[in-house]
Amino acid sequence: MVDGRVARTWPRIKVTREIMKIALGVSGGIAAYKAAEIVRHLQERGLQVQVIMTAAAQEFVRPLTFAALSGEKVITSMFGSSAEEPNLDSAVEHISVAQSIDCLLVAPVTADVIAKFAQGIANDFLSTLYLATSAPVIIAPAMNVNMWEHPATRANLEILRRRGVQVVEPGSGYLACGMVGAGRLAEPEQIAAATLECLGIAQDFAGETVLITAGPTHEPIDPVRYLGNRSSGKMGYALAEAALRRGAKVVLVSGPTALQPPSAAHSIFVETAHQMRSAVLDRWEQASFIIMAAAVADYHVKNFASEKIKRNGPMELQLEPNADILADLGSLRHAAGRTSPMLIGFAAETGNLLENARAKLSKKRADAMVLNDVSRPEIGFNSDRNEVTIVTSSDAILVPEASKLKVAQRILDEALRLRQTRAALSPSRSS
Ligand code: PMT
Repeated sequence: MVDGRVARTWPRIKVTREIMKIALGVSGGIAAYKAAEIVRHLQERGLQVQVIMTAAAQEFVRPLTFAALSGEKVITSMFGSSAEEPNLDSAVEHISVAQSIDCLLVAPVTADVIAKFAQGIANDFLSTLYLATSAPVIIAPAMNVNMWEHPATRANLEILRRRGVQVVEPGSGYLACGMVGAGRLAEPEQIAAATLECLGIAQDFAGETVLITAGPTHEPIDPVRYLGNRSSGKMGYALAEAALRRGAKVVLVSGPTALQPPSAAHSIFVETAHQMRSAVLDRWEQASFIIMAAAVADYHVKNFASEKIKRNGPMELQLEPNADILADLGSLRHAAGRTSPMLIGFAAETGNLLENARAKLSKKRADAMVLNDVSRPEIGFNSDRNEVTIVTSSDAILVPEASKLKVAQRILDEALRLRQTRAALSPSRSS
């Protein structure tokens, strides 16, 4: 609820994004149930997870559990649902999966699967996938301490390490078999972090709260009509995805879009500039970064009608200025003598680009303005791509045209760098 109105839900379409895909192999050990938590951690970082279960794993956990969690088909056999009626697509599915993944994670991995991988045995989907993929491979062992310490297991692990397979070392403690010792599956959070690191996704926003605004606002003319703009929300949603991947807690304040927000983001849906302002000002003090990608209407219709205006010749709208949310944040932060949160605005310009962006930077007391030339149809509004210049009081850093996700990652890089630079220059100032 914002401003007493129930936020409306809009039909959501999945936007094709550069989602990184992980194949999660689950093999047969009591720790198989922990793989469910690994799925959740990976999804919270915006990754797509396809689960592959060995026959033994299915003795411990039902495939339905992973299907429900991952939202993806769970692969449980080499040839589709039943070997009696092999499905031709499934006959080569291991190849298509092998080529589509960014990483193969096996957690838990049993001594049996380690041995198969080491010896190149391919007699089920998982072991075949291991041989078929060129993606990085990470294994998280879980087994009885004697099996873990057995020379055969040691030798097989050594073979895999030499091939570049990353091993997430098991912990020690009470084991399912009642013994005490090494062989406990590492914590799901640790396995997820190792996977992200393997994908080159630093968790440099872990512990940070990033508040992002996205999309347009709609200013009602009457119950049917509104003033809007061309923002699709893609830039803001890409920022949310990029921040989640890097470990941030993300609060996404979104105007009306057709996009599906990242599930791990805390999303707040608003319609008007006034509602967006309330949603942002209610949360600004808990944020460490605020990135205002939304195209917030500068005016609302003062004489909006509660009934649909009948068509009757010319219609006059009285437009009244909306509050400038970013400028309000700059003033609030200044008045509180704070340097946190980092305030990053976007400047949608069509001319005098740098001059206009710098003017907004100082007028709104922002730390940076992300300038984009919205007169170019191939970037900016509703495009999947953008080209921006990150303008600060001392710099103007060009981020050449790229996907909005890649541009978002660069904006986050610069936001972190800017905060570090500022902290180094004024270590004494409060947060
Ligand atoms: O959503 P997409 O289709 O992906 O398009 C992305 C985008 C073009 C919308 C995005 O890259 C962008 O430029 N967003 C800012 C659009 C905008 O309102 O720019 P502006 O120059 O009018 O506003 C400057 C800054 O002040 C912005 O951060 C804006 O959020 C903020 N603002 C503006 C008006 C207002 N009343 N309150 C504000 O806080």
